[in-house]
Formats: sequence, C-alpha cells, structure tokens
Amino acid sequence: MKDLLLETKVVVCTPDEMDLSMRMLVEKAKEMTQNAYCPYSKYHVGAAVLLADGQVVAGANQENAAYPSGLCAERTTLFAANANHPHTPVLALAVACYTNGHFTKEPASPCGACRQVMLETEYRFQIPMKVILYGDDECYIFHRASDLLPVNFVADNLQG
Ligand code: THU
Repeated sequence: MKDLLLETKVVVCTPDEMDLSMRMLVEKAKEMTQNAYCPYSKYHVGAAVLLADGQVVAGANQENAAYPSGLCAERTTLFAANANHPHTPVLALAVACYTNGHFTKEPASPCGACRQVMLETEYRFQIPMKVILYGDDECYIFHRASDLLPVNFVADNLQG
C-alpha cells in the first residue's frame, strides 16, 4: 500500500493582475450573472468562454420548476459554444457568482457535472482550457480543466 499525492497548481490573483483577454472574459462572466434565470435559488451564475478564433460565447444558469431540468451556467455556455462552433477550440472559461446583492467573495466553485463537461471540451480539442473562477477577494486560475478533476474519466478509459 502507498499514498498517492495529487497536486494542483492554482494561480491566485485579482483581475487587474490578469492579461487583458482574461480580464475581459471575467467581466463578461460577471455581466452574464444578470441573465441568470434563477427564481428558485436566487444564485446567479454567469460564464464566458474564449474561443481560439477570438470569439466569446457566454451563458448563465437556467433553472426550472422541475428542478433537475435546469442547467448550470458553465454547461449552458460550453454546450452553446460547442454546438455553434464545433471545430473551434475553447481556450478559456470564466465563471462568476452573484447572490444576496453581491458577487461572492470566494472564487466560484463549479459543480462536479460541470467539471466533467469542461474535461470533455478539453479532451475533444486536445488543447488545455484555462478556468478562471471569480471572487471579489481573489480569483483562481487553473491552467487546464483536468486540474479541477484529477483521477478523471475520459474517452480513453472506455478502451479499458
Ligand atoms: N450553478 C451553476 O450555474 N454552476 C455551478 O457550478 C454550481 C451551481 C447553479 C445551478 C443552480 O441554478 C444554482 O446555481 C444553485 O445551485
């Protein structure tokens, strides 16, 4: 028996320390929290992705009276990007959360299902996808989606 130590590098910073394209992506994610449809949770999540050709696709969480029918901001955004630009890699994803009248102080934390979808996007294009999680106090930047989901399941695992 032995221990396996899993390490994840996370850059902790404020938006003004990011390069312009990442700062603009964060601003878009923050702006998109206003488009959330979240009458049940009142938890507004916005997301924005930067594509390899420079286009930005954005989304927000969409809830439903039949709760499981709703969808998170990250998946709304990634599915829209992949559906409309199936051959264009996604270079970065920014996420922001707004609730109780303010953006969260802590960086936004994507749920497990969204992490799995991020992983699939990264796997599909075989290009690392940066993930930027906004918090009013500090932001986290992961250099690749797989850093958010170590010991993961991708298409390679289907081969056994
Ligand atoms: N939500 C997201 O949009 N992204 C996440 O990663 C976590 C949760 C949404 C789903 C639901 O509309 C609300 O936040 C509360 O869970």
